Amino acid sequence: VNWADRAGERIGRLTEEDQARRVRAFDSKGVRGTLGGREIVSFASNDYLGLSQHPRVVAAAHEALDRWGTGAGSARLIVGGRAIHDELETDLARWKEEEGALLFPSGYSAGLGTLTAFGTKGTTILSDELNHASLVDGCRLSRADVLVYPHREMDALEGLLSRSESPIVVSDLVFSMDGDIAPVADLVSLCSDHDALLVLDEAHAVLGPSVPSGSGDRIRLGTLSKFLGSAGGFAAASRSLVDLMVNVARPFIFTTAGSPADAAAALAALRIVRSDEGEALRTRLRALIDRLRPGHPSPIIPIVLGASRDAMAASERLLELGFLVPAIRPPSVAEGSARLRVTLSAAHQEEEVEELALALEKVTGTTIDG
Ligand SMILES: Cc1ncc(COP(=O)(O)O)c(C=O)c1O
Repeated sequence: VNWADRAGERIGRLTEEDQARRVRAFDSKGVRGTLGGREIVSFASNDYLGLSQHPRVVAAAHEALDRWGTGAGSARLIVGGRAIHDELETDLARWKEEEGALLFPSGYSAGLGTLTAFGTKGTTILSDELNHASLVDGCRLSRADVLVYPHREMDALEGLLSRSESPIVVSDLVFSMDGDIAPVADLVSLCSDHDALLVLDEAHAVLGPSVPSGSGDRIRLGTLSKFLGSAGGFAAASRSLVDLMVNVARPFIFTTAGSPADAAAALAALRIVRSDEGEALRTRLRALIDRLRPGHPSPIIPIVLGASRDAMAASERLLELGFLVPAIRPPSVAEGSARLRVTLSAAHQEEEVEELALALEKVTGTTIDG
């Protein structure tokens, strides 16, 4: 077997299907920087509140570096954690109004760790068809039976729930490719009625929606890597659920603790998110979204173009005009629904958003206000 040839053939097929990808470096501080020698404004970041550049967040990371150095050195259970990890977990739990929280190295591994910890043999995971890849992969790695329900269709979910053994319902709260919102009140009440564990991935929920309280068990997943401007993920839940994850969630157990500087940055960012300043940043973000697509519920704004080739060409054309807007193609989205995905941040200027709107109209030939 010549693996280099095999790899080459597969890449060739991906290229023919307009699905080949490559990594590019963006030399930036926040949303502005240079790519391939060109000055651009990025609409490709999930740093929705611009906190990766906030002076208090950066200072907190500096202090942590000075105090503890760079890498944590070992896994949390091998005592790789520092006090800052515990402090961050305490604040994350308070923020999510849960008894505890557990850090993971990324949001991706928080999804994997949670679904594999609870999705044991004899359980059934019910998963929205448009859930993020981390949840899809968590379902695949679990020992549970997995049933996929049509996107946001609560009647279909209810039908499946009534036939499922030890059900776990998992859903993005804000869907990462469409920017639409899960019917969270219905999810909470259906799970309460059917004694199902509800797992909500709140990675993109910078503007909510808030999660109503309910009588059932739930796990709230989040990431430090998006609007907390850092890196890492977490699961927040009742004490016993968190304690079980500490003992059985392999993506928590068999990996080095996140760096103390990342934890310190996330903690400083979380304190801003929960303050008046955070509220003002969210108000600003909301206003920018309304300029581009009035009333859209999240900072993720898709412009579906259909063919991968069209989405890639539009993205390239926008880059020439100074805007980084990624083309999202299968398998990240369904065949025939390749798109541009704009993500807005409170760090954008009003004029930048206005100019982007004009450029999008020029490149796609349509208005994009939904
Ligand atoms: C819904 C959702 N969950 C989880 C993740 C993974 O988070 P992280 O980037 O921290 O691994 C992402 C994005 O990457 C996401 O969109």
